[in-house]
Amino acid sequence: MRVVAKGAEALLYLEDWLGLTVLVKERMPKGYRDPVFDRMIRVRRTINEARLIMDAAELGVKTPVIYDVDVVRARIRMQYIEAPTLNSIIRANGYSGPVKTLMRRMGELIGTLHAGGVLHGDPTPANVLVSNGDEYLVDFGLGERARPTWDDRYLKRVAVDLNVLLRSLESNYGEVGNALFSDFMDGYGSVVDKSELVMRWVRRIRSLARYYTGRLT
Ligand SMILES: Nc1ncnc2c1ncn2[C@@H]1O[C@H](COP(=O)(O)OP(=O)(O)O)[C@@H](O)[C@H]1O
Ligand SMILES: [Mg+2]
Repeated sequence: MRVVAKGAEALLYLEDWLGLTVLVKERMPKGYRDPVFDRMIRVRRTINEARLIMDAAELGVKTPVIYDVDVVRARIRMQYIEAPTLNSIIRANGYSGPVKTLMRRMGELIGTLHAGGVLHGDPTPANVLVSNGDEYLVDFGLGERARPTWDDRYLKRVAVDLNVLLRSLESNYGEVGNALFSDFMDGYGSVVDKSELVMRWVRRIRSLARYYTGRLT
């Protein structure tokens, strides 16, 4: 079995399926969870992920093609995108012109999702695959669908999505994280005309988080 990645909840491996090399994302049981609850969570995230990947594709965002959803074993067979993650590209190149362009592009894609009512759930560079300059989004298991009304409720939800990215960039790249986020927002703003309002909500969420956790950053 060729393991591609082992995350906190899923094992990703390659499989020969009807003569095709496909990627299997299988959500493994967690021993510490009640078995009935555990199965429910794994099945729900599996179905959710497959649905959202297809919703994203419908909005014109590149995602792996879904071949098969095995609800009983909580696994998805999908197209294997043989390409590095945006995360690994940032690490290899540092903050450079090509990285700026790729962050901007990622912003356009997440903006397209938000404009279409898809909240990714974990929009970090580790969940972007870069294949010949084209970006594919993966890892929609924690995503959600909503009506893109752009009222305060929706603004808050998209801001929470962006705050996941901002926090991940800050913790992985320190000072450079803010520059990366700003490039991302350039792309996001070119697709979402309410992006100024979204940013206001991101700042609000961050100051509330500081208030509740007493953090000084
Ligand atoms: N369709 C795919 N083709 C190639 N690599 C993939 C694909 N899906 C995921 N990966 C790789 O596996 C890693 C983990 O997959 P992901 O769906 O993000 O699961 P996790 O929830 O464990 O983060 C990704 O960061 C990416 O490197
Ligand atoms: Mg991931």
